[in-house]
This record gives sequence, C-alpha cells and structure tokens, in this order.
Amino acid sequence: MIDTEHVTCDTCTAPGAPVLDASDEASRAWPATDIAANPYKADFPLLAGRPDLAFLDSAATAQRPACALDAQRRFYETMNANPLRGLYELSVEATEAIARVRDRVAALIGAVDEGGRPRAHEIVFTRNTSESLNLVAKAFAPTVLRPGDEVAITIMEHHSNLIPWQQACRAAGATLVYLYPTKTGELTDEEIAAKIGPRTRIVAATQVSNVFGCRVPIEKLARAVHAHGGYMVVDAAQSVPHMPVDVRELGADFLAFSAHKALGPMGVGVLWGKSELLDRSEPFLTGGEMIDSVTEQDARWAPVPEKFEAGTQDAAGIYATGVALSYLTELVGYENVLTREKALVHYAMSRMVELPYVDILGSIYWDRHHGVISFNVRGIHPHDVASILDMQGVCIRAGHHCAQPLLAWLGCENLACCRASLAFYNDQSDVDRLVDGLGAVWKTFHA
Ligand code: ALA
Repeated sequence: MIDTEHVTCDTCTAPGAPVLDASDEASRAWPATDIAANPYKADFPLLAGRPDLAFLDSAATAQRPACALDAQRRFYETMNANPLRGLYELSVEATEAIARVRDRVAALIGAVDEGGRPRAHEIVFTRNTSESLNLVAKAFAPTVLRPGDEVAITIMEHHSNLIPWQQACRAAGATLVYLYPTKTGELTDEEIAAKIGPRTRIVAATQVSNVFGCRVPIEKLARAVHAHGGYMVVDAAQSVPHMPVDVRELGADFLAFSAHKALGPMGVGVLWGKSELLDRSEPFLTGGEMIDSVTEQDARWAPVPEKFEAGTQDAAGIYATGVALSYLTELVGYENVLTREKALVHYAMSRMVELPYVDILGSIYWDRHHGVISFNVRGIHPHDVASILDMQGVCIRAGHHCAQPLLAWLGCENLACCRASLAFYNDQSDVDRLVDGLGAVWKTFHA
C-alpha cells in the first residue's frame, strides 16, 4: 500500500458543499428516471457474470454487450477474408461489411453530404483515438504549420491530444499555446479571444474532459480559429459514447474517437476529416493496399480513406464496432443514455458531497459532469483509495489520467486523483457501493 500523503487540489469543492442544480435553468432539471432498475446489465456478459463488481471506469474503457462480442466471432466464422484484397465472394463480403460500418460511422457523426448521404470516404479506421490524433498532427499539420505559427490546445487535453502537438510544433518551429479554463473547467470567451488569433493555424481540443467531465465549447473554438483561416481538431473519445455528436454543428475539420469506449472492441479507432484536408496530407503509415502504384523508386497513393489505412485492418473489430454503435444508438439510444447518465451523476454527486472527507474536482454543478466525477479523499493517496475500493469490488481509475499538465496546473499533489466514470449500464447500487467503499477507505486510515 502506498504511503499516506496529504492529497489536495486547490480546485476541490468544499466538503459538504451542495450539489447545485439551479431549478430556474431547465437544463439543470434532474431527470427523473429509475436508476434503481437496470434493464441493461443483462446485455453485458461481464457485468451479468460479475455481480460482485461495481464497474465505474467506463471513461477508460467501456464494457461490451453480447451482440458486439458475438459480432466479432461471427465475422471470423462467416465472412473471414482480407477485405480489399480479393475478388472472390468471401473477400467481397468482408469488404462490404467494412464499407457498411464506414457508412454507419459517417452518418452517426453527421459527416454527410447535402442529400444526407454519408461521406464514408472521410472515415479512416485507425487503432484508437491516439493514433487518429497522431495522424492529424503528423500528416496534416506539416501542410499548414510554418515557423512562428501557433497551435492552441486546452490544458484539459489528454496526452494523446497534447504530445502530438508538442512534436508537430517542434518540427515546424511553431509555438504550442494553452487555453486555461477556470478552476472549475469553464473556458471563457475572454480566454478564447486572447489565445486564438491570426497566428493560430490549428486548435485541438477535447469535447469532454476525461478529468473534469465538463463539455468544452468546441463550437466557439471552431468559430474563433476559422475566423483566422485555421482548423479545428476535436478529440471526441469521451463524447461519442455518451451524446450525439455532429461534425457540422461543432464546426470540426477533424474528429477522432475510439470504439472501445463506445462499447466496441479495443484496437479500432476512427478519424473523420474533411476530404480536401485528408487529400492534401501525406500518408502516416505506408504499405499494403494504401497505394495506387509502386515502382522501384516511387509510389503513388490510393485515394482517401485507403491512403491512410496501411496493412491489414482489424476487420472483425470494425465489423463489431458497427454492431456496438447500433446497440448504443439504436437499441439503447442517446436519449436514454443521456437521461440515465445524468440521473446517475446527480445521485452520485449528491451522495459524495455528504462525505466531509471527499473533495470533488471541477464544477460543483452535477450537470457539468458528463459521466465523470474526479475526486480526492483527504490525506489519502488516490492509489490507496483505488486499492481499498477494489477490495470491495469497486473499480475506479486513480492516477494522472494521462493529463499530467492539467493535474500539475490544478496543484494536485502526486499528480494524481481518483476518478469514477459512469455509463448507462450502471445503476444506483453501483453508486451506493462507491459511497460505502469511500466510507471504508476513510475508516481504514482513521480507525
Ligand atoms: N483515455 C482513457 C482515460 O482517460 C484511458 O482513462
């Protein structure tokens, strides 16, 4: 067990602070839904098979429904062939299965033409959000960044939307500029106006912070950078699993997310990019079917998206991703996801602020925490908190959450905090077990 050290954050809410839910704002109305009932857990073999667990780490990776697990097996059992690499029926079937998922993903995020047809060629399958963002920083950024230019990101970025920009700026002689929110995660208009200007070529931001759980005003950032002729890159890893996302409404030029946080398999990521921007970018990885022709000394590229899909794709994973997204958005539906997650967060925050030894990071408004509640238990190292909770079957993440600059800026000791992240398949009993577990954590150190 890690030594107890005093762990504080200067952003933490005071213990016992009320969970504000200003009743005059309709958006703050607590959605009345029965979170004691759980019609979803039975769909998830791991959750159904482990009633001893309260899984509260969906921001790290979601659980998978049986239909998505079955789909992976079905691909290998009924249509396994290398997509794009055969003219025989089985290979064509595999290729078409992937094409259908590309259509589905494009439609899901609003990448459609005026007639509402999916712009499937703008969907690149990668391994994960990190690879998608690296692709933008390594393949697209060099086409626009010159010495003296600026890339602006928020201090709330996950390392996957931060380190690639450090490297892109270093390579181009550009400067990485940070937008700082208030200590409760609000990005003000003044900060946006101060940091995004004529030198800004790219703004890259997460749509939902994986630490605060707050929404970042992507639309405003996009308007600001477009006004100066720049480009908007969106990390949607924490939003697509929880809310409808539309690239046109956001004003995005690129958007990335991972299948594994959206009930799909690990190892499949999505990058959407405007086709003219993908067209002008050099390939990120080379080899396989991403070519048009190859000579001894040179190569010409296939059109997008193949240009960015070197080597054999995880076809079974992509197929299962399509099924997982159908389950999420058609069977469950974003409306139910949002209602249930809001109710769960409201309940969790209401109970956690009753614990005088728990400090919540970020906003005191429950409705600004989109499934994510980060916190500390006074004087107890987050790793100890997570270990003791684990003994009670409660799974949370503790550590830097791949956001070290944010935790440093917040003044979090040990660059660490605890994080409980909820999904629609959680219920009241999961939250109760977290709260009871936190009581046990406190008693362990204060018996
Ligand atoms: N990006 C994932 C998280 O925030 C791993 O936990």
